[in-house]
Amino acid sequence: MKIRINNEEKDLRAVWFEDGMVKLIDQRKLPHKIDIFEAGNYEEVAYAIKDMVVRGAPAIGITAAYGMAQAWLQKQDIQKVYETLKNTRPTAHDLFYALNLMKKSIENGEDAVKVAESYANDIISRCERIGDHGEKLIKDGFRILTHCNAGALAVGDWGTATAPIRKAHRNGKKIFVWVDETRPRLQGARLTAWEMLQEGIDHAIIADNAAGHFMQRGEVDMVIVGADRIARNGDVANKIGTYEKAVLAKENGIPFYVAAPVSTFDFSIESGADIPIEERSENEVLFCRECRIAPEGSAARNPAFDVTPARYITGIITEMGIFKPEEIKNVKF
Ligand code: MRU
Repeated sequence: MKIRINNEEKDLRAVWFEDGMVKLIDQRKLPHKIDIFEAGNYEEVAYAIKDMVVRGAPAIGITAAYGMAQAWLQKQDIQKVYETLKNTRPTAHDLFYALNLMKKSIENGEDAVKVAESYANDIISRCERIGDHGEKLIKDGFRILTHCNAGALAVGDWGTATAPIRKAHRNGKKIFVWVDETRPRLQGARLTAWEMLQEGIDHAIIADNAAGHFMQRGEVDMVIVGADRIARNGDVANKIGTYEKAVLAKENGIPFYVAAPVSTFDFSIESGADIPIEERSENEVLFCRECRIAPEGSAARNPAFDVTPARYITGIITEMGIFKPEEIKNVKF
C-alpha cells in the first residue's frame, strides 16, 4: 500500500519480515503516528497480535506465519511457539489456517521463511482478485457502507472489503464510502478513514448508530464488510456491530456483501453458533484512549465480534468469484 510519510510516498505492507525481525505498522498509533513495531521473538509476535499492534484476520495470519518462520530460524521449540501464537486471539480463522500451514511445512523440512513469504504474497494476491470480482458490483455513483477496517492494514495490501472499493476508484468510478467509526477500538474512524484518505476516496465517518438513518433515507447503495470466520452454512463472524448493519440493510432493501479469502473459511464448523467469540477487556468500552468516559463503579461487556446469519447476506465475494452464502461450502479454493 502506498503511504505518504512527510510528503514522501512509501510502499509498505501492514506486516513484513526483514533482517530476522517481524515488522509491523503499529496500528494502535494510527492515524496520528506511523510507527514500526519490531518483534524479535515469538513472545513479542504473540504480544503484537494480542494487543492489536496488528489486527484484521488475514494480517493476523500473515504475522503468525512470519512468527513461525522467525522461530524456525531461531531454532525454537516449534510446538511451543505454535501453542503460544494459537492462544492470542480466538475468532479469526486465518490465524489457525496460517499456523497449521507453517507447522506442516516445517515438519516437512521446508524453508519456513520462504513458505511464510509465499503465504503473505498469496493472500495479498487473492485479495486483489476479490477486488476484481467485487468491483463489478459497484456502479458509478455508488455510496458504499463499510464496518471496521477490512482494508490494506487488515491484510497487508488491498484489503478484503476495500479491495473492490479501491479497484472501482482506480477504474474511474465515482464512489463514496460511509465509514462506521466502529466502537470501541475505532478501526473505522482511525484506520479505514486513513486508508480512504491515502487513496483519495471520498468518504465520511459516521457514529455506529447512524447507519440505519442513512440507509432509511436512501443514502446507502450497498454494504461491503470483511469477515473473521465463515462457517459451512455461510454464517459470518465479523466485528461487533456487523450483524445489526446486515439486519438494517435487509430491512431497507440494500445488498449486503461479505468479502474474504480462503484463509477465513472454516468448513470444519457447521454454523456461526460454533464460532468462538473473543471478549476483550471492559476497559476498551469504559475508556476512550486514556480517558475514562463511564462512571467509576460501572461495569461493561466487550464482545469483539458477532455472527451475521447467512440469510442476511446477499453474497460472499471471494478470490474465486461471488457466491450465495449457501453455495460457499461447494467452492474449491
Ligand atoms: O478486532 P479486529 O480489528 O482484528 O477485527 C477485524 C475485523 O473484524 C475485520 O472486519 C476482519 O478481520 C476482516 S479484515 C480483512
